[in-house]
Amino acid sequence: MSNMNWKLLFLFFIIFIRTRADLPGTWELLVPDAGIASMHTAVTHFNTVILLDRTNIGPSRKLLPPHRCRHDPTDPVLKKDCYAHSVLLDLSTNSIRPLMILTDTWCSSGQFLPDGTLLQTGGALDGVKKFRKFIPCIETPNSASLCDWQELQDIELSQGRWYSTNQILPDGSVIIIGGRASPSVEFYPPRKTGAVNFPFLSQVEDKQMDNLYPYVHLLPNGHLFVFANNKAVMYDYNSNLVIKDYPVLEGGPRNYPSAGSSVMLALTGDYSSATIVICGGATYGAYLQRTIDTPANGSCGRIEATRPDPVWEMENMPFARIMGDMVMLPTGDVLIINGAQAGTQGFELASDPCLYPVLYRRDQPIGLRFMTLNPGTVPRMYHSTANLLPDGRILIAGSNPHYFYNFKRAFPTELRIEAFSPEYLAADKANIRPVLVELPEKIAYGESFDAVVTVELPVVEVVEVNIASAPFATHSFSQGQRLVKLPVTSAVPEGPGKYRIGCTAPTDGRVAPPGYYMVFAVNQGVPSIARWVQLIS
Ligand SMILES: *[C@@H]1O[C@H](CO)[C@@H](O)[C@H](O)[C@H]1NC(C)=O
Repeated sequence: MSNMNWKLLFLFFIIFIRTRADLPGTWELLVPDAGIASMHTAVTHFNTVILLDRTNIGPSRKLLPPHRCRHDPTDPVLKKDCYAHSVLLDLSTNSIRPLMILTDTWCSSGQFLPDGTLLQTGGALDGVKKFRKFIPCIETPNSASLCDWQELQDIELSQGRWYSTNQILPDGSVIIIGGRASPSVEFYPPRKTGAVNFPFLSQVEDKQMDNLYPYVHLLPNGHLFVFANNKAVMYDYNSNLVIKDYPVLEGGPRNYPSAGSSVMLALTGDYSSATIVICGGATYGAYLQRTIDTPANGSCGRIEATRPDPVWEMENMPFARIMGDMVMLPTGDVLIINGAQAGTQGFELASDPCLYPVLYRRDQPIGLRFMTLNPGTVPRMYHSTANLLPDGRILIAGSNPHYFYNFKRAFPTELRIEAFSPEYLAADKANIRPVLVELPEKIAYGESFDAVVTVELPVVEVVEVNIASAPFATHSFSQGQRLVKLPVTSAVPEGPGKYRIGCTAPTDGRVAPPGYYMVFAVNQGVPSIARWVQLIS
């Protein structure tokens, strides 16, 4: 090559490096070895994170405390298992504590109850009908009475629930929907009806299933938006009636084993409208034919589900993506992160990891909504998770496309936990970042209350006060994920750099079911660190 060509090549190289480095967002390694690959992840109101895998896979990389082994004569690998398959991450120290789970939580589901307890249901084999609870506690070092999993002995699910979806309801109970060979719904606390047949789930089943882990969103009218395969219904769960059939979403199946992801955009205004966005998925047949190279789909459908005649508005993401996670940011924008660009869900079935997160800016016009962000370096494919943290970062855990833990094959079992910081956490935005200095600990429906913030630069526009639920993230969908933008007054100055904002709590449980929420003040797109508030009746 001539000298000129080398110079050109060098120039291109510099441009390439710069563009990558200039993309918004930063990555950090939080925990080099969590000991387990998290399949299910949930953030508690004590700023701890429950990480949960499955049980019957032999050794993890984290031992249980001494003398706490699990004895299970039916376990295929270890009849005496002294390894943890669930751990607790303490966000204040980034330390990991082993937890003890007994029955198999493989492809199970969960949801926080109004008192902050995580209800966790189903799974496979001995866990398929289980109810479990985790009552979070304050982590104190060397404390003897640390919280752990409880497996309920007095009740069980009416049907086995493997790959089902849970959603907390306006009255604080939980609906558990679907699962493999269980096209029905049931409730916690259990209702007299037991499992109620839900024919929609059978109607959308195909040769490779595609109706598992349905996308469920509680609409502000109190009904459920349930999406499976490529169809959706508005479902009145109290009378077991389908109220509305939505048009087909083109572009192939979107649920397990072909899952993209789904969110309900932030509820705002008078809460009369709700919009669902579903992005990515596998090409039909990739699972059936076990082809790991089939390109994933890169389209998103967006529908205003509460309109009389709703239609899907289609748009393409910058990348095709299977197994992406859609995370509601405190601002109302959506982060799409993790996943692969080819293949499908299942063991050893995907390739070409998608390392680039993208931001979906809900308020931009179509065509301008996506922004490509700074890529990560760790493939996060099957069995990985993404959760919003109270400080606005996104916790990224797991990835294990193998049946057992395997650190040698391509896309090895991933034990590292990372955090992704969206651009709103950049240092040059620190002077507009609000600090929530005053907020009630509990708020009742419809109640007026004040939030007091401090901020370095003068406030020039409305400071939003947005409440975010803590969902149960698994299989690229966050069960119970919800963001509500509260009605607020403009910020009234109260001393230097201090402002008082009048807020109104959600009107009722259909807008936001009871429970703990992260309350963020958001100033010009920059969120505060959240405070946890319990929303009560
Ligand atoms: C993805 O879905 C869109 C929308 O229906 C469709 O036009 C496109 O052909 C699909 N792409 C692939 C790769 O399947």
